[in-house]
Amino acid sequence: MQFSTLQGDASQIESACLVLCINQNKALSEAAAAVNNASTQVIDNVFESGDFKGKLASSLLIPVTSSIKAKRLLLMGAGKEALSSKEFIKLTEAIAAQLKSCTATQASIEIESVEVNQRSQDWKAEQLAIALQNAGYKYDQTKSKPESEEKDTSLDAIAWIGQEDVKAAFNKGQAIAQGVSIAKDLGNLPGNICTPSYLAEQAETLAEESDLITTTILDEKELEAMGAGAFVSVAKGSSESGKIIIMQYQGAKDKTAAPHMILGKGITFDTGGISLKPGAGMDEMKYDMCGAASVLGTMAAIAELKPEINVLGMITSAENMPAGHASKPGDVVTTLSGKTVEILNTDAEGRLVLCDALTYGIDNFKPASIVDIATLTGACMMALGNVNSGLFTQDESLATELNQAADYSQDKIWRLPLEDDYQELLDSNFADMANIGGRLAGATTAACFLARFTEGYPWAHLDIAGTAWHSGGKNKGASGRPVPLLVNYLLNK
Ligand code: BES
Ligand code: MN
Ligand code: ZN
Repeated sequence: MQFSTLQGDASQIESACLVLCINQNKALSEAAAAVNNASTQVIDNVFESGDFKGKLASSLLIPVTSSIKAKRLLLMGAGKEALSSKEFIKLTEAIAAQLKSCTATQASIEIESVEVNQRSQDWKAEQLAIALQNAGYKYDQTKSKPESEEKDTSLDAIAWIGQEDVKAAFNKGQAIAQGVSIAKDLGNLPGNICTPSYLAEQAETLAEESDLITTTILDEKELEAMGAGAFVSVAKGSSESGKIIIMQYQGAKDKTAAPHMILGKGITFDTGGISLKPGAGMDEMKYDMCGAASVLGTMAAIAELKPEINVLGMITSAENMPAGHASKPGDVVTTLSGKTVEILNTDAEGRLVLCDALTYGIDNFKPASIVDIATLTGACMMALGNVNSGLFTQDESLATELNQAADYSQDKIWRLPLEDDYQELLDSNFADMANIGGRLAGATTAACFLARFTEGYPWAHLDIAGTAWHSGGKNKGASGRPVPLLVNYLLNK
């Protein structure tokens, strides 16, 4: 999408669609006042007739003939005088939806005058770019023909009317939205297409497209030879070969500077294994690779924005299947770290593939910080619903950085406890630890398990079981979260 900024008399702007944001008090921006005057008070008139009241996210499309230079005039309700972040995002989504349905290829938008509590023009431009780009998202990779009425959005150029140069922020928003779209596509693809090998191919493509990224793939055989017994205990039940995928983005001047590691859980289908899940809704377990998808989406955005840091993007990927050669409850395996684990439930597989990848990343790259992202527990989804991802960390500065990025991106997280007091729930009579902790504090015990493999490192765990996916219904599909959070977090490094 082309982006430009412009100033001057709004009635003279040549545009396929001129978008003006107008609040309930009819306190007109300079642009709106100019259009109002040039057009025999069109804005006053629609307020008088009651056709438009400025209610947040309401809209009125007016085809114009000669009084102003734009072909269409789109009035958008900007609600009360200062908006919350959430209200502003609602407004941008409404603008995006209107522009999509009016089929204009270009739009000039005056939104600079809309005040948002605690937010800069850059923040607003970023959110606008994300909304415009997201509105164009459509999943059609496994449909035989594209759905006709929902033709791709034709919008390809945006002009920002106002004083501020928000181009960089707009570009950042576009890169984030592109990353979100990649993550959604991967999450939506079925398990028979999106396999560990498919994820590896995506990572290799990313490396081909970016000079700053190199990709290495470790396959199940190599991992077995290395001693990654926890990873293999999950992957071995499937005929799809498990893989650990390593993407190195080197943007720092010092190529040897310690990288910031992000690691995604990539279970491309989770049946539960021998501890088989119930059948109802099991199809949705194709989204158990959304942590991995968020890492790929984030790496794509980083490759686009080229920050001067080193990032280690890792994915630990396998299919969790029941089979004659699958792990059984009670099996004891030796992890890459040397610690042994009693697998009491084969459905707690995420932590098993993550722990060996954490050890591998730490041993080989000595990262400056580590964040893992995983659809790890139903318990986290029960606790936080679809609003917040769960944050677990004992590192206060990492918590602060992630909370700041979550607030800025509005890709929300909520901190849950990760204290050593919970560790004893993982005690086992037959191994160094069990892979589950019983009925209580399920999201925390999963995090406690991972904590045992990250000792001495600044590490945080994000449980996205509730936020990566919209269940059932019309909206069923991947959300692309937490790509906005991760990109902002890394850019602030
Ligand atoms: N992938 C699931 C967690 C999950 C559940 C994600 C629902 C999204 C929606 C994970 O592998 C799992 O099965 N966890 C078990 C752990 C239990 C056996 C301790 C769970 O949450 O039930
Ligand atoms: Mn599971
Ligand atoms: Zn799982």
